[in-house]
Amino acid sequence: MAQSWSPKSWRDMPIRQVPEYPDPAALAAVEARLRTLPPLVFAGEARALSARLADAAEGKAFLLQGGDCAESFAEFSANNIRDTFCVFLSMATVLTFAADVPVVKVGRIAGQFAKPRSEDTETRDGVSLPSYRGDIVNGEAFTPEARIPDPERILTAYFQAAATANLVRAFATGGYADLSRASHWYLDDHHHHDLKARYQAVVNKIGEGVDFLRTFSLSETVKQQTSRVDFYFSHEALLLGYEEAMTREDSTAGGWYDTSAHMIWIGDRTRQPDGAHVEYCRGIKNPIGIKCGPSMPEEDLLKLLDILNPDNKPGRVTLIARFGHDKVEKHLPRLIQAVKREGRSVVWSCDPMHGNTIKSAAGIKTRPFASVTGEVARFFEIHRAEGTYAGGVHLEMTGQNVTECTGGAQALTEVDLTDRYRTTCDPRLNASQALELAFLIADLMDAQKKSQGARQAVTS
Ligand code: PEP
Ligand code: CO
Repeated sequence: MAQSWSPKSWRDMPIRQVPEYPDPAALAAVEARLRTLPPLVFAGEARALSARLADAAEGKAFLLQGGDCAESFAEFSANNIRDTFCVFLSMATVLTFAADVPVVKVGRIAGQFAKPRSEDTETRDGVSLPSYRGDIVNGEAFTPEARIPDPERILTAYFQAAATANLVRAFATGGYADLSRASHWYLDDHHHHDLKARYQAVVNKIGEGVDFLRTFSLSETVKQQTSRVDFYFSHEALLLGYEEAMTREDSTAGGWYDTSAHMIWIGDRTRQPDGAHVEYCRGIKNPIGIKCGPSMPEEDLLKLLDILNPDNKPGRVTLIARFGHDKVEKHLPRLIQAVKREGRSVVWSCDPMHGNTIKSAAGIKTRPFASVTGEVARFFEIHRAEGTYAGGVHLEMTGQNVTECTGGAQALTEVDLTDRYRTTCDPRLNASQALELAFLIADLMDAQKKSQGARQAVTS
């Protein structure tokens, strides 16, 4: 581990998942240009998110993080962004109402372009080409030309991220997110009627409360708090040249921030304690996520916490557990116990997507909804048994009515998958499945709140 850190000190460390650019000079020119372009977020906003995550670490808030597996250039449109934003708001409404804690909303959006791959090459009908690594690197089409990493794509991704962030900020603060519009957020008209009725019942109850409060003298404060939302951006910090170029020194409070997103995370394939991705992340002050899969040893996790959060600051690190519904029981308790033993402060978040990917009989990547809900339910149970707080979820979802994950209220089957299978990477929950999951999480949060209350009553 290098003692001194700089935005480029990762370049001296072993690195995985790097694209091979045929023209390094062209890549360097793009990175130089990127260094002159405006930040996408401010350091003060990243600090505000850290403070809210510190609440989630202590059981006083809940993290809802989600969005596409990978944003794409082809699917970039105002409607797609609006629909993802709406599904977020409707889920957050259900969660806030049930558990009575603030929901910290963090999108996998405005920069979630780079993808780690299990294999460097993909073979089809005896032809092998470099793997697709996300639109920021190369093209998805299975042709030799498309698969060559092209640095110009980095600039396209930056400008798409900027336009996306701009629209999301407008949605969040410009009236669209006003609680009085909550019944418009759930746009999917293909959902199950029970789900719609349940959501409408929540919205009606909230509406009565908000109208009541807005009528009285506190109305201005209440209006301000119910007419806009705080929404943050996040992505996997995989393409370190992009992150380095977006790293800026904070002119107000000092310190380095990655201004490409409020929060970034380290993927399960690039979390080696002595590797380049960890080296980059240790020097920036944004909140950091670490994906924890079945191959994560306790010693590595504790090492990572020492490196990334030597001062044990609450809100700095979110551990994103992604084991699979059939493995969570085996791996989560050992990691929770290690973290508890060392007295480390973390947000525990559950990613019930990446450990539950299977292939359908026809060879299509999918995720059974029952495996997703099963992992979330076990995650809460384990935290209850360990006396720790289930602090958030990390989801791949979309506001579109896609058919990528099987199951849910619409009872999608493997045969339905080809109807509207649009992801360029992993299968996402559609709007109905996402809302159905929110109701389940709301019940689990409610139970968690009651058991915390009971525990406090016993210990006081
Ligand atoms: C992802 O979040 O899209 C991802 C690749 O996850 P993981 O690193 O957990 O496999
Ligand atoms: Co994914």
